[in-house]
Amino acid sequence: MQGAQVQFHLRPGGRLTGCIRVPGDKSISHRAVILGSLAEGITEIRGFLAGADTLATRNAFQQMGVPIWGPEKGKLRIQGVGMRGLRPPQAPLDLGNSGTAMRLLCGLLAGQGWEAVLVGDASLSRRPMRRVTDPLVAMGARIQTSAAGTAPLHIYPSSKLKALHYAMPVTSAQVKSALLLAGLYAEGETCITEPGPARDHTERMLEAFGYPVRAEGNRVCIRGGGQLRGCSLAVPADISSAAFFLVGASIAPGSDLRLEGVGMNPTRTGILHILRQMGADIRIERERESGGEPIADLRVRSAPLHGIEIPPALVPLAIDEFPAIFIAAACAEGETILRGAEELRVKESDRLQVMAEGLSELGIANQLYADGIRIQGGELGGGVVDSHGDHRIAMAFAMAALRAQAPIRIRDCANVNTSFPDFAALASKTGLAIQQIP
Ligand code: S3P
Repeated sequence: MQGAQVQFHLRPGGRLTGCIRVPGDKSISHRAVILGSLAEGITEIRGFLAGADTLATRNAFQQMGVPIWGPEKGKLRIQGVGMRGLRPPQAPLDLGNSGTAMRLLCGLLAGQGWEAVLVGDASLSRRPMRRVTDPLVAMGARIQTSAAGTAPLHIYPSSKLKALHYAMPVTSAQVKSALLLAGLYAEGETCITEPGPARDHTERMLEAFGYPVRAEGNRVCIRGGGQLRGCSLAVPADISSAAFFLVGASIAPGSDLRLEGVGMNPTRTGILHILRQMGADIRIERERESGGEPIADLRVRSAPLHGIEIPPALVPLAIDEFPAIFIAAACAEGETILRGAEELRVKESDRLQVMAEGLSELGIANQLYADGIRIQGGELGGGVVDSHGDHRIAMAFAMAALRAQAPIRIRDCANVNTSFPDFAALASKTGLAIQQIP
């Protein structure tokens, strides 16, 4: 694969300074396309993430007959077709690397009454899909996975879905959101109970589109048969993309970096709690609200970090940030222990395994558990790290160079484009000595 040739080359040392805005939130951008497409009237989205994942979602809705313009300078305009206005796609919908796109679309398309096929790249085709298809089938959907429970997903016509009361066995915003989207088309009230707090962007955005959602504690309910009203939305900067800079500026002596307009949804801020417990100096400034989501500017200055036992309750609130957190742990005094994070094994890569291999390559002692890792802080050497095509692993190891003794090369970095186009350019503007090849 040609994309596998993209590499990051990093010179060791440096510090991060200045003021930047990282790209728009990926989770929120996906949901804005989905709900905007189903709404009555026009939806205008500012700050839309023009990454490969969210563009795959846009393309899928265009294939289903939704007029969508942009993104141009972060602006996306959608002429919503209404709840029953999607047209059956004439070809499989290719969702690339995006688990969010595949699982949310599976939920939405289960209730359309026509046939569709969802496909993805090699990584996405390895990821577990029964967690969404099983409860959807219990609602009356007809969906076929591979024998291993993976994509391609064939969705067949079915009669009207029936509402479901479902207790999710794993904490997953993708499963919750898929069932909420199916619930829009179901007879009766669908209720989902989550074992821990998963991100609640779908619930918030449904309300922004005028669709009532009933949330009490760890349960969320939706009644089928309503309508969505097109609206104007501003997407916050993605805290999951800010995470690399929070870690980079924390570990590189002399850093002082400001990150503007970062999403501060409490279901996403685990990284701030974890880094602060490790001794990081992060200030939250100008807290405000934007499009139903809290946002703030973050100022981060370098500080000596120490290892911690990461509280299991924070795991779902920082689920995408562990590659970056492991780099902070590698630079911390003492050991950091993570348990209760088996979900990391079924992300874009097996993030426990791939991070452990990369840390070992750079001379950082670690021990893997089935559900976590122990990392002994130490001196980072240089070396060649394979990201296995996982965007967040590539960006996390790029930040490691700030404290490395020798150059670091990172392989297979093309997928950084799924969530953070122009990462290398923005990072180098702040002071990271990074070169993208080719
Ligand atoms: C996401 C939910 C999380 C997260 C993913 C985005 C979403 O996945 O890891 O990057 O947008 O709903 P899970 O639902 O599998 O936890």
